[in-house]
Amino acid sequence: MQIDILTIFPEMFEGAFKHSIIKRSQEKGIVQIRLHNIRDYATDKHKRVDDYQYGGGSGMVMMIDPIAKCIDKLTDDTKYDEVIFMTPDGEKLAQPLANRLSTYQNILILCGHYKGIDERIREKYITREISIGDYVLSGGELAAAVLTDSLVRLIPGVLNDETSALSDSFQNNLLSPPVYTRPYDYNGLKVPDVLLSGHDKEIENWRMNHALKRTKTRRPDLLTDEEHKE
Ligand code: 6GU
Repeated sequence: MQIDILTIFPEMFEGAFKHSIIKRSQEKGIVQIRLHNIRDYATDKHKRVDDYQYGGGSGMVMMIDPIAKCIDKLTDDTKYDEVIFMTPDGEKLAQPLANRLSTYQNILILCGHYKGIDERIREKYITREISIGDYVLSGGELAAAVLTDSLVRLIPGVLNDETSALSDSFQNNLLSPPVYTRPYDYNGLKVPDVLLSGHDKEIENWRMNHALKRTKTRRPDLLTDEEHKE
């Protein structure tokens, strides 16, 4: 998968993409993440990327020309499955959308800033608008990093144990059950004995029961499925 990210703050991604699973997926050659600085496509001598909005009002708006030039150049070489704009008024990201996007070959992600981007960019280029939740961030960069992480970990070969993405919370509308590692007894805090019993069936039952219990108390909204209801 190739992910092209358009931003005025490419440095914001460095920490997020240089560690752990995303780093390894790039080293393995499964994912190519390319950062493009929109400012490099500004044509005036001050490298301007934003301007006052027509009609007045506070807040700057990202100009059409640098973004259009950047997208035009990229689409010369790449056919994108989706051209995504990160925005709080987009579709809210949830696991089914991440699953779907993770099957694509090429995606472009545009990060907005200031008051927003010139509407004509959205009309002309954007095929999908995504939000990561009902709160406002200063820009789309952190949201794009969240989206990228959620996709990359689903691509076959990225996780060592491929089943571990399938057993994530939300893949089956259940939160994950509690997990434990050594020591067995930490100052009197013990691991549930069933997990040491070696009985696969009982362990599986215990995990399912606790996943259900946790979902009922924390996220009852996820249990729309009749078979999961009491
Ligand atoms: Cl995608 N962008 C911004 N600026 N704020 C957000 C968001 C995106 N998703 C939730 N809040």
